[in-house]
Amino acid sequence: MFTREREPFLKVLLILLSVILPNVPGFAQGTTRPWMDKSLSPDARADLLVKRMTLDEKIQVVHGLPSMGFSAGFKRVAGSLGGDGFVPGILRLGIPDQQQIGAGVGITNLGQRVHGQATTLPSSLAETSTWDRKMAYDFGSVIGSETRDEGFNVSLGGGIDLARDPRCGRNFEYHGEDPILAGTILAQELRAVQDQGIVATIKHYAVNDQESGRFYVSSNLNWRALRETDLLAFEIGLKDSGVGAVMCSYNRVNDVYSCQNSYLLNDVLKLDWGFKGWVMSDWGATHSTVNAALSGLDQEMPTGVYFGDALKKAVEEREVPMSRLDNMVHRILRTLFAAGVFDNPSAVKPLGAQVDADIAQRVEERGAVLLKNAGGLLPLNASTVHSIAVIGSHADVGVLSGGGSAQVDPIGGDAVPPKRVLHGSALFVHPVWDPSSPLKAIREEVPNAAVKYDAGTDFAAAAKLAASSEVAIVFVHQWTREGADLPNLSLPDNQDQLIRQVAAANPHTVVVLENGDPVLMPWLDDVQAVLEAWYPGQRGGLAIANILFGKFDPSGKLPITFPMSESDLPRRHIQQPPPGEGYFDVDYMEGLKVGYKWYEASHIKPLFPFGYGLSYTTFSFSNLTLTPASTDGSSDVQVSFDVKNTGSRAGADVAEVYIGLPSSTDEPPQRLVGWAKVHLDRGQSHRVTVTINPQAASHPLSFWNTDVLGWDTANGVYKIYVGDSSQDIHLTGTLDVQHAGGRPAIP
Ligand code: BGC
Repeated sequence: MFTREREPFLKVLLILLSVILPNVPGFAQGTTRPWMDKSLSPDARADLLVKRMTLDEKIQVVHGLPSMGFSAGFKRVAGSLGGDGFVPGILRLGIPDQQQIGAGVGITNLGQRVHGQATTLPSSLAETSTWDRKMAYDFGSVIGSETRDEGFNVSLGGGIDLARDPRCGRNFEYHGEDPILAGTILAQELRAVQDQGIVATIKHYAVNDQESGRFYVSSNLNWRALRETDLLAFEIGLKDSGVGAVMCSYNRVNDVYSCQNSYLLNDVLKLDWGFKGWVMSDWGATHSTVNAALSGLDQEMPTGVYFGDALKKAVEEREVPMSRLDNMVHRILRTLFAAGVFDNPSAVKPLGAQVDADIAQRVEERGAVLLKNAGGLLPLNASTVHSIAVIGSHADVGVLSGGGSAQVDPIGGDAVPPKRVLHGSALFVHPVWDPSSPLKAIREEVPNAAVKYDAGTDFAAAAKLAASSEVAIVFVHQWTREGADLPNLSLPDNQDQLIRQVAAANPHTVVVLENGDPVLMPWLDDVQAVLEAWYPGQRGGLAIANILFGKFDPSGKLPITFPMSESDLPRRHIQQPPPGEGYFDVDYMEGLKVGYKWYEASHIKPLFPFGYGLSYTTFSFSNLTLTPASTDGSSDVQVSFDVKNTGSRAGADVAEVYIGLPSSTDEPPQRLVGWAKVHLDRGQSHRVTVTINPQAASHPLSFWNTDVLGWDTANGVYKIYVGDSSQDIHLTGTLDVQHAGGRPAIP
């Protein structure tokens, strides 16, 4: 009998049972929570769970609640860790909270997380400039482990909109202008994030290629170009990584909002690519309930305006079938199961900051691109240089980072006090300078030399210091951020003039660029060397100094073309919304000809071509042999050649393989299809084989055939180009492909 006296005893018994029973083999699996049986597939586990959920519980999983603490009058929801997104879990069923955090170049801190500092990685453009799959994986492992160690389980990193316009404010978060390079590098990053037991996201699907008017613009592109350029980058990034979430974008694509674009979400993503994860909206990019749900959106973020009560009503009234809601929930839960979020939850613990900073440094050392080095000025010889002028861009204390929702609060704090700026109701802190001083790192390289700093604000004073030094190193910057594009590619704040005056005072002038987009260089002939450092990250100062003094041979290659002038671009100006922020169209008339393909097809010489970058040593290429793929598809095309280090020191080069499709396909002159980064000692030679799999997610030999709505391969002669930039082709050959045959259309 239950009596009052026995109550304390029963309470203790209940507590003990609640602790012991879940650990008794078979209990959790067999009785109360069969979905916790790890031997079942993620889909089977999700099915079991969905069956046990009430309508309200299902609705709870498909939208978020406010969690970012930067808006006026904001109150964070209980349970949220203060990341960018929060979807409360369901205790009764053991469904974990979804704690979502921005993570493009490190774990962000847009809200008011007290312990929100994290490792700032170099920009994604720097990561892509490494052309190094292993580095991209390491980059992702920093994001994955820090996401986990800060208690989050969904990372919102992984931007892959193509750099169709070099003025786009978010290019630094993206992976350049080539879909195959971008997709391949990002896939490695995302795989690494998910290997840490985190759900990763790929975004912004699709064609969010400019920030100006991003809520109102329609990105218009013909279907073939869409599949072969912007969507191809997603296809590779997604298929080669198994990423769990896709974020649909703010803009419209061919007139239809991305987050209710059935072609993009249902036909291409889910049906054709077989994506099993979930589609979440960008923050506030949902525009309807029934339409969005039926068009393939699975989760509204960050709130539930359309997918809260309104979706519940739509399901009750059968405007949205229960089966569709179940599918939305299934997709979310199966992804959480697959990533390990149920079985191995994230827990807050100290970050592996030292290891992560080492990785940030390695990425920067391999991603910085040496653009000019006249007379072999670099590397500087630490034992012979006596005086160096270091000028500009807060190089005494730090290096620049890109702004917006990818902004990281760097470990060690801001090097320069940032401004606090209100955009609407959101407070942004920017620009953020990461605390890694190039000046200090340079001084450590040459402890006996006179290394003096000038802020670069008074040009005459900077020139005076340069005149009295053997070498002048001018740091210049271009700050870019989410929500705005650059009006042009000129360095802001008259920095061109600063460079000119310094260069006039000292013939041994080195320019170091910290930027998110290409820049014009009217002073290029006046300076001896230019190092593209991008946004260099947590250890940027050290990495730059290591390259300048030759501790590290530069091996980065541009993932984006640097134009001579804006008049060479497909659009003279980046299009702005009409007054009053009305709807407008950007017609991407260049279609297939993105980046280098545009310049080549239009016979325009860029300032620096895609794939370009110097080393401190030199390389030669020889002995090209080509092996065609077997007709039964069991073996791939093999492109083999020798690369030799012909200079006087060890170094690395990226051997790039481009293909020109038969003219019947009407493709741009060449496309990148593969590459190998080769590290060679002085005098060493290596036979490289780049394998091209015609069946790969990159569809390297195919074109999108709009007649059959499928990938198709033309018979004919394929030209093969091997070089170390898209313009420096050292070897050419041909492949005759017959009986290629088409591929079936989308079912
Ligand atoms: C950005 C997304 C980001 C989200 C949450 C939006 O403004 O476009 O990339 O993930 O905010 O921070």
